[in-house]
Amino acid sequence: MIINRTWAMASSETFSCKPIGEFVQRYLAESMVSIDPFSRNREWATYTNDLDPNTTARSHQEASEFLASLVNQNVKADLVIFDPPYSLEQCSRSYKGVGRKVTMRDTQIFGRWTSHKNLVNRLLTPDGVFLYFGWNSNGMGKKRGFEITELLLVSHGSAHNDTICIAEKRNLEVKLGETVGISRMSATALLPGDGNEPA
Ligand SMILES: C[S@@+](CC[C@H](N)C(=O)[O-])C[C@H]1O[C@@H](n2cnc3c(N)ncnc32)[C@H](O)[C@@H]1O
Repeated sequence: MIINRTWAMASSETFSCKPIGEFVQRYLAESMVSIDPFSRNREWATYTNDLDPNTTARSHQEASEFLASLVNQNVKADLVIFDPPYSLEQCSRSYKGVGRKVTMRDTQIFGRWTSHKNLVNRLLTPDGVFLYFGWNSNGMGKKRGFEITELLLVSHGSAHNDTICIAEKRNLEVKLGETVGISRMSATALLPGDGNEPA
C-alpha cells in the first residue's frame, strides 16, 4: 500500500484542494468510464450526480437511486469516485437545502453507505478502482473483497480533521482462490500475465 501525508488548506469543494484534486486526476487519467454520485460542480466523471439541483451534475437524485438506475442500465465503470457528506451535520444541511427531511433511516445509513456501496460493487469492473474520501478509511472493505492500494492523508492544520483519501481495488488473488478452493499461492500463479499461464 502506498501511504502519503501532506498539508493543504481545506475547501468545501474537496477536489479544489490541490493534492486531493491531483489524486483524483491521476486515477481519471487511467479511466474509460467513471461515476461520481456526489459530484457537486465537479464535471470530471462520465456519470455525475448530486442531490442539489443547483449544482452542475447531470442528475439530481439521492445517490443510491442514481446508482440503482445505472445498474438497471447495465453500466460498468472502471472508476467510482465517492465523496459524500462527511458528517451528519453536513448531510442535514444538504437535505435542508433541497427541502428534504432527514429521517431516522437517513441517520442510520449515514456514514455506512452500505446500500450505496453494494450498488457500487455491481457497477465496478473486476479491476475497477474505488476512490473514497471522508473522516474515516472505511471504503468498500474486505467483506466485499477489496483492499486499500493507496492512502493519502491531507492535514488541514489547526483543529480541522484530516481528509482521508483512499483508493481500493478488488483483491482478485483471494477471490479466485476462494472460488475454486485453491491456495493463495496457486491462485496467484493462475492470474493472467504473470508468465505462468499454460502454453
Ligand atoms: C463533499 S461534497 C462533494 C464535493 C465534490 N467532490 C467537490 O470536489 O466539489 C458532497 C456533495 O454530496 C451532495 N449530497 C449530500 N447528500 C447526498 C445524497 N444523499 N445523494 C446525492 N448527493 C448528496 C451534497 O449536495 C454535496 O454537494
